Amino acid sequence: MFVRDVKLSLFGFGNVGQAVARVLISKEAFFRKKYGLNFRVVSVADTSGVVWLPEGVDLREALLVKENFGKLSAWTNDYEVYNLTLEEAVREIDADIVVDVTNDGNAHEWHLAALKDGKSVVTSNKPPLAFHYAELTKEAKKRNLPYLFEATVMAGTPIIGLLRENLLGDSVRRIKAVLNATTTFILSRMEQGIDFEKAVKQAQELGIAERDPSGDVLGIDAGYKATILHCVAFKPITFDEISVKGIAEVTVDEVKMALSNGKRVRLVATVEEGNVRVAPEEVSGPLAVSSNENVALIESDLLGELLIKGAGAGLKETASGVVSDIVKASLKLR
Ligand SMILES: NC(=O)c1ccc[n+]([C@@H]2O[C@H](COP(=O)([O-])OP(=O)(O)OC[C@H]3O[C@@H](n4cnc5c(N)ncnc54)[C@H](OP(=O)(O)O)[C@@H]3O)[C@@H](O)[C@H]2O)c1
Repeated sequence: MFVRDVKLSLFGFGNVGQAVARVLISKEAFFRKKYGLNFRVVSVADTSGVVWLPEGVDLREALLVKENFGKLSAWTNDYEVYNLTLEEAVREIDADIVVDVTNDGNAHEWHLAALKDGKSVVTSNKPPLAFHYAELTKEAKKRNLPYLFEATVMAGTPIIGLLRENLLGDSVRRIKAVLNATTTFILSRMEQGIDFEKAVKQAQELGIAERDPSGDVLGIDAGYKATILHCVAFKPITFDEISVKGIAEVTVDEVKMALSNGKRVRLVATVEEGNVRVAPEEVSGPLAVSSNENVALIESDLLGELLIKGAGAGLKETASGVVSDIVKASLKLR
């Protein structure tokens, strides 16, 4: 079987970056056998520097360096550690696919640089899509390059693929979705009588919420995701144009009252053409998720109601979306 060598440039080596590296290592034979693809990671970057080796970086060693020293720049053998901005790295490093698993809020600049340089882009980073969708997808289309972002919404649960590559004859009427697992966890704890602050603290202790939980509890993360869903299902919009209310004002009494009426309070995104809202709502039925699952109910003219439910967070689960996009982009390489 003909095996194609695909050069990947991996930007970001935190939780998701390392999870992607582990999948690339452990499923190397699977990708070769199933798709005829051999992934060669030519660079890996974190905030300390860019490790770049055209013959391919040893990912096992990269993981060891990051685990033991906390930064890739601690690499001291044959590997070259470069002090490049990400835009410089994107331009200088010869790669087929640029993989962005950073949390860099300005990443749209180097996504655009990558596309202009003829490189495909795969990302799990939300702000580039939530603020620059039109510009980025226009550039990708102009150059006939994949620009893929499955893991930005519902981790690896393939809602983006569903809307972008299926349902092509359908007109979507509305999407109702629960897109943030951290708020679901907090609200579930509040159902047990635990107050908001304590529930947030528990989420932090379990590693579910970040040290700064505001992105989740204020609804920003769900808002980014809802914005991206609107862009894909309808037309480009930006996060600044949507309405977002988080769960910080929800009380234990409200949550318990809903429960006594057979309902649950969840942070719900409602996406309709030209109108995106994120706010706490009382829900029942499939939207009343209780674990780290995300769920979306898509209503369209031909198919009617379609429910998609699955992991909305988690490292292996997010890597699933990123790696799926890497395979998809690789299969489209000319
Ligand atoms: N975790 C999830 O379940 C999940 C799910 C879906 C989507 N996402 C998204 O995926 C992305 C990664 O998430 P994560 O949990 O892996 O975050 P993380 O653990 O904080 O990792 C972020 C990585 O990006 C690197 N980075 C940030 N800015 C950079 C810059 N300017 N130059 C070079 N490297 C830079 C960081 O470097 P240092 O290591 O030096 O700090 C770190 O390695 C985020 O955008 C997140 O929103 C995460």
